[in-house]
Amino acid sequence: MAEIGVVGLGVMGANLALNMAEKGHGVALFDRADEKAGTVVGSAGTLAPMLEPAVAQRDFVAAIRAPRPVILLVPAGAAVDAAADALLPFLSPGDIIIDAGNSNFRDTRRRSQVYAAKGIDFLGIGVSGGEDGARNGPSIMSGGQPESWQRIAPIMNDIAAKFEGEPCAARVGPEGAGHFVKTIHNGIEYADMEMIAEIYGILRDGLGMAPAEMAEIFAAWNGGRLKSYLIEITATVLDAHDPATGKPIVDLILDKAGQKGTGRWATMEAEDLGVPATVIEAAVAARALSAEKERRVAAEALFGAAKRKIDVSDRNAFIDDLERALLAGKIVAYAEGFAVMAKASETWNWETPLGTVAKIWRAGCIIRSVFLDDIAAAYAAGPVVDLITAPPFAETMKATHDSLRRTVSAAVLAGIPVPALSAALARFDLGRTARSTANLIQAERDFFGAHGFERTDREGTGLHGPWSKT
Ligand code: 6PG
Repeated sequence: MAEIGVVGLGVMGANLALNMAEKGHGVALFDRADEKAGTVVGSAGTLAPMLEPAVAQRDFVAAIRAPRPVILLVPAGAAVDAAADALLPFLSPGDIIIDAGNSNFRDTRRRSQVYAAKGIDFLGIGVSGGEDGARNGPSIMSGGQPESWQRIAPIMNDIAAKFEGEPCAARVGPEGAGHFVKTIHNGIEYADMEMIAEIYGILRDGLGMAPAEMAEIFAAWNGGRLKSYLIEITATVLDAHDPATGKPIVDLILDKAGQKGTGRWATMEAEDLGVPATVIEAAVAARALSAEKERRVAAEALFGAAKRKIDVSDRNAFIDDLERALLAGKIVAYAEGFAVMAKASETWNWETPLGTVAKIWRAGCIIRSVFLDDIAAAYAAGPVVDLITAPPFAETMKATHDSLRRTVSAAVLAGIPVPALSAALARFDLGRTARSTANLIQAERDFFGAHGFERTDREGTGLHGPWSKT
């Protein structure tokens, strides 16, 4: 009998099923399209005996040993409700439904409650790593009850990516916590990708570099403190050529970025919790602006193109600055993402272990990097209020913020848009300004709305100004 079932045999579902089969776990398979389960088994080679295809939900459920864990890998939204509801008549109390898609954590919270009333634990798990991760080792962020996690943990630990032998899989809190953490992972992914793209813009338009030259720079950075999956694939992508034309493929790809919504959710939740996530917000907004290609083309004709070229006296020093700028921007973006998770955990009493989150992001997921090992170490060393000021990041920030400033300044003067890097710099500057300009805002709020303020020279709240209004 199968140990676990998978519903939804798209790329992610099929690859996760093969990964589980390879680790010795029998998997029952079901897809709404009748032929898919058979197709997956047909292409599974030596793993086929570990897979049990079914064309009806009843047979699918019957093929799994009770109490049954069933993983759903269907598109987020109504399809999750539909897939779970269709299984329900055949499930028994004690069975677990695991939604491993990119669901909105608010849906997961609702579903957890609805299914708990029926004796079924609904577990939302974030799975990162794309197709390759699903097949060879993703990062797994689970919500749900501890007992349910205990039951599926052996399988999840087996299939997860390993960082120095440690599985990148963990429970990060109850109900929607897993999907929330995955949402913030994706928000950070957006920020990382946007900042890398901005640096690419400076190299391409500011310095006039060809993709192959840029690939070398990113490859070199991947040997240093920026070492990460995203920097590695940036080098690979920049070095790839279109077989038909022989041109660098990156030059032939339309500059309109897609988005499925998780980055946007990250910013909405951050705003809702009152935690600034300015770099992620800038990255989400930049994607939206990128999609307005036709308007951008028309506006360039209207206003003229920016100069874009950057005159540098010492090219190598300038490129070293870019590397440090990216590192500084990354610190701010991750600090914001972790602050959002901390606030969410506090708000919903999730007790999300943030150090563990950093640990399970060190391998398997899209934002995996050596940098996350430093974050894990920072949390292991003691409570972290703000990663920007926590060791060792405070020291790195001291060593890199001037580079971020020079980079942003050079780009801005040349008219190269760097919204995420600028947001990181502004966040850093605002965060270390002892006397800000919010006193003026307070004065104006009091002037037009009698909202009151505190003074620097005496105690008390709700104080008012000497406004004489006619
Ligand atoms: C991952 C990715 C994965 C996916 C998203 C990105 O962690 O494996 O984040 O979830 O790539 O679908 O989506 P968009 O860029 O389309 O929003």
